[in-house]
Amino acid sequence: MSESADIGVVGLGVMGRSLALNIASRGFRVTAYDRDDAARQRLAAAAREREDADRRLAAAPDLAAFVGALKQPRTVLMMVPAGAPVDEGLASLRPLLASGDAVIDGGNSHYRDTIRRAQDMADGGLMFLGLGVSGGEAGALTGPSLMAGGTRAAFARVKPLLSAIAARAGERVCLAWLGEDGAGHFVKTVHNGIEYADMQAIAEVYGLMRGAGLDHARMAETFETWNRGELESYLVEITADILTRLDTASGQPLVDLIQDRAAQKGTGQWASVAALELGVPAPSIAEAVFARTLSARKPERIAAETALGVAASPIQAEPKALIADLHDALLATRLAGYAQGLALIDAARREHGWQTDLSTIGTIWQGGCIIRARLLDGIRTAYGRDPGLANLLMADEFRSRLVTALAALRRIVALAANHGQPMPLLATSLAYIEAYRTARLPANLIQAQRDYFGAHTVELAGRAGNTHIDWAAAPKHKGPG
Ligand code: 6PG
Repeated sequence: MSESADIGVVGLGVMGRSLALNIASRGFRVTAYDRDDAARQRLAAAAREREDADRRLAAAPDLAAFVGALKQPRTVLMMVPAGAPVDEGLASLRPLLASGDAVIDGGNSHYRDTIRRAQDMADGGLMFLGLGVSGGEAGALTGPSLMAGGTRAAFARVKPLLSAIAARAGERVCLAWLGEDGAGHFVKTVHNGIEYADMQAIAEVYGLMRGAGLDHARMAETFETWNRGELESYLVEITADILTRLDTASGQPLVDLIQDRAAQKGTGQWASVAALELGVPAPSIAEAVFARTLSARKPERIAAETALGVAASPIQAEPKALIADLHDALLATRLAGYAQGLALIDAARREHGWQTDLSTIGTIWQGGCIIRARLLDGIRTAYGRDPGLANLLMADEFRSRLVTALAALRRIVALAANHGQPMPLLATSLAYIEAYRTARLPANLIQAQRDYFGAHTVELAGRAGNTHIDWAAAPKHKGPG
C-alpha cells in the first residue's frame, strides 16, 4: 500500500480484525497493528480472502511504522480489551501523535474511564472518542451499531468513515453522536444491560417450556414463529436456530450438552451499578446479572437441590395456551428491560449534561446490534414525539398492549411459582411493572420506621414540610375487638 492510510486500527483480535476488514471493504485505506505477530498474520490471511479489502489494508511491523503510515491529521481506532490495555495503548501512542490527531476507543470501556481519558487527551491537544460497538464479529465485519461519545469536532472528523461501515436499518444509519466524553460508552453499557435482561428472559421462557415437556422441535418452531411478529429480534432469531442444532457425535440437541453456568465480562454489572448510583430503578437489569452469578454456582446448586428436597414439579399445561401466555409474558418483560435501560440513559444524560437523544437510540439499536428488535420502532417514535417521556411503559405505542401482556405475565409467574420453577427475571419484571403502576405503595410504613428509630422525619398528608413524630407520645388505637 503506497498511499497514506485514512485510519489505523490497533488491536487485531476478532473485533479489531473484523472492523479493519469492514473499513477497507468500504474503500478506505487502513493500516493495522498488533503487538502479537500471529494476530497480524491472521489479519493478512483474512484480507487475502476478501479482494475488496486486500488492496487497501496493510499491517505495520511496529507502532512507529503504523503511525508513519497515517494521513495527517491522523485517526486511530483502538480495539484492545477494556481497562489497563487502553491506558497502555494510549501511553504508547501519544508520543507518536501530534496535536489535532484523533483516537477512537472502540472497546467496551467503562464510561468513567472514557471521561477521564477524554480530559487527558484534550489536555494534550488530541481528540478522543469513546465508541460503543455492538454486533459481535458478524456485525463488525458487515455493519455494527455505533454509539459515539466525544466532542462534536471529533465526531465530525470521523463521521463519514463510521457512517460508511455502520449497519443500516432501512434508510437509517445505525450511528449517532450521543454526547460528550463517556456518553457513547454509557449507552453501550446500558445496551449490554438490556441484552443481559433479554437473554435471561428468553432463557427462563425456554426453561418453562422445557419444564412443561415441549420438545426441541416445538420450542424452535415457537421462537421461529415469534420472530415473525411482535417479538421479532436478533436474540429470538438465534434462539430458534440454536434449538434446532444437534451435536454431530451424539445426535443430541447441542443446547442440552452445554453446562448451565452463565459467564459474563462485567458490562451488565456496570449498568446495574450505574442504576444504583443514579437512583434509577432497573431491577430487571440487575436481576439478570444476579441470575448469571447464581447460575455459575453449580456445585452449590447441586448440593441445595438434594438438601432442600423441593425440586420443581412438571408443569401440566395445554401447550397452545401456554405458548400464547409465554409470548405475552416475554413481550411485557422485554418492555420492562428497555424501559429501565432508557430511564437509566435519561438519568445519566441529565447528570453528565450529555445531549443524548433517546429517539435516536431507537434508531441506532435497530440494526447491527445484539438487542435489535421490532420494539425499537415504538421507542423511536415515542421519544421522537415526547423527549421528556418519564417511562416507556407510559408511551402510547405500548400502554394498551402492556395491559393485556401483563395479565399473561402474571399467569406465567404464578404458574412457575406454583411448580417451583425459578423465574427471577420474569418475576422481577412483573414486580417492577406492578410497583410502577401502583399509586399507593406501602412505603409509608418504611418512612414511619425510619422516623421511629432514627428521627428521619416524614411527610404527612395535608401538611407542609417534613415532621418528626414523637412516636412514644402519639395516642394508640384501642386494638382489636
Ligand atoms: C455486543 C455485545 C458484546 C459483549 C458480549 C459479551 O453488543 O456486541 O454486547 O459487546 O461483549 O455480548 O458480553 P458478556 O460476556 O458480558 O456476556
